[in-house]
Amino acid sequence: MKPNLSKKELQEFNDILSPYLSHPKVREMKDYCAHGRISVLQHSLNVALTAYRLDRMLGKKADLHVLLPGAILHDFYLYDWHDKPLSIHIFQMHGYTHPFEACKNAVEVFQADDKTQEVIRCHMWPLTLRNIPRHREAVLVCIADKLCALRETFQR
Ligand SMILES: [Fe+2]
Ligand SMILES: [Fe+2]
Repeated sequence: MKPNLSKKELQEFNDILSPYLSHPKVREMKDYCAHGRISVLQHSLNVALTAYRLDRMLGKKADLHVLLPGAILHDFYLYDWHDKPLSIHIFQMHGYTHPFEACKNAVEVFQADDKTQEVIRCHMWPLTLRNIPRHREAVLVCIADKLCALRETFQR
């Protein structure tokens, strides 16, 4: 995905994300497949970029220090979901459980704050019924994730 950002925007984007992108646990996400042939790391970068662009379109009102870490860590669950045994119980399915797993890891590895945790926990809404995105950053990541997942699934 092309960034389509100005030099200044790209600098801002990279400055906030570089501590995350240089971390070995985040780099591990490139070993897991998200949609189609896209790794979880590439998908998470696409989501961060899309959320950044959506925020720019809507007047740059988001806190980028919540929006971008939340986006890069939203799928920080660190396993290959294709290897997970299938379950008929919705509360045990990857789609339902992975935001909570990602949130737990984000707290353990990066001491993610409450707002960033909400971005991660709510990104699968409406599947995760009671975890409704209530602030701007969580809404933007929730939308960006769906746009990217659709695009990545059909882009072969
Ligand atoms: Fe996800
Ligand atoms: Fe995602």
